[in-house]
Amino acid sequence: MFKLVLLVTLFNIAYVSTHSERPGKFLEHDRSIVNCARYKREANQHTCVLAPFATEGPYFLADDLERSDITDGQTGVNLDLNLKLTNAKDCSPLSGYFVHIWNANALGHYSGVQEFNKFPKQTFRPKPIYDTRWLRGYQVTNEDGEVNFKTIVPGWYYGRCLHIHVEVYSKNTTDTNAITYIGQLYFKRELPVQLKLVEPYSSNQNELKFNEQDKVFNGMHGNDTITELVFEENNAKTSFILALDPTVTTLTNGTVVN
Ligand SMILES: *[C@@H]1O[C@H](CO)[C@@H](O)[C@H](O)[C@H]1NC(C)=O
Ligand SMILES: *[C@@H]1O[C@H](CO)[C@@H](O)[C@H](O)[C@H]1NC(C)=O
Ligand SMILES: *[C@@H]1O[C@H](CO)[C@@H](O)[C@H](O)[C@H]1NC(C)=O
Repeated sequence: MFKLVLLVTLFNIAYVSTHSERPGKFLEHDRSIVNCARYKREANQHTCVLAPFATEGPYFLADDLERSDITDGQTGVNLDLNLKLTNAKDCSPLSGYFVHIWNANALGHYSGVQEFNKFPKQTFRPKPIYDTRWLRGYQVTNEDGEVNFKTIVPGWYYGRCLHIHVEVYSKNTTDTNAITYIGQLYFKRELPVQLKLVEPYSSNQNELKFNEQDKVFNGMHGNDTITELVFEENNAKTSFILALDPTVTTLTNGTVVN
């Protein structure tokens, strides 16, 4: 790993991509409760917090594949992930939205990219240098605003607690000026303690960070997107409702703009 220091420095210089800044008014995250139960629509009986935005991080890849099963041979605790997008303004399902997810494997690695522990700036994005795209993909929400993915419970890596990245577009694009939502799903604090007991997570040599030790989690309302797992043998499943305001967009650093 330390042999890579020089390489890392070169990469940093070579691969810093400039993201043009977008005009608009910066908004504070609105933590209002979305009470869809009062709309008395059968499919939309829920109460939740407007989903908080989080930073995109450096490892999103724009050449995502449209697919539900993104495991691509990666092993770990299989995870069936159901995401439902709700319009926070009227509780209607957001159908036809493009939902991208990406997560680290059990050993804490992302496919396709060289990983870095330090970034020269927040806009730093390493270019893809491998063809692998495991644990990445996108789906289009159905008429109920839902998508289903098969992934694995992620492992931990430098500086971060367990999380799955989510990025939503209202159309088929990955243009940084057209992002409806960027967030991260988290897990219960104790989950990695259990994972450490089983292969391949037990071989993950990265320093483990718990939720409360992670700056992104703490600074960007991580508690609001903890998803609860239901276990069945070596499989887990979970559902999460993301209540979004479709009239705003977000910068890749998680700042909301209108
Ligand atoms: C989105 O656009 C890409 C590139 O043109 C295309 O390959 C893909 O099939 C499109 N996806 C959907 C769901 O239309
Ligand atoms: C998240 O929730 C936990 C448990 O309730 C609490 O101890 C912690 O302070 C919360 N973190 C933040 C940043 O609000
Ligand atoms: C995100 O970027 C915008 C534009 O560069 C900046 O004004 C804002 O303060 C940044 N937000 C954070 C959380 O760094």
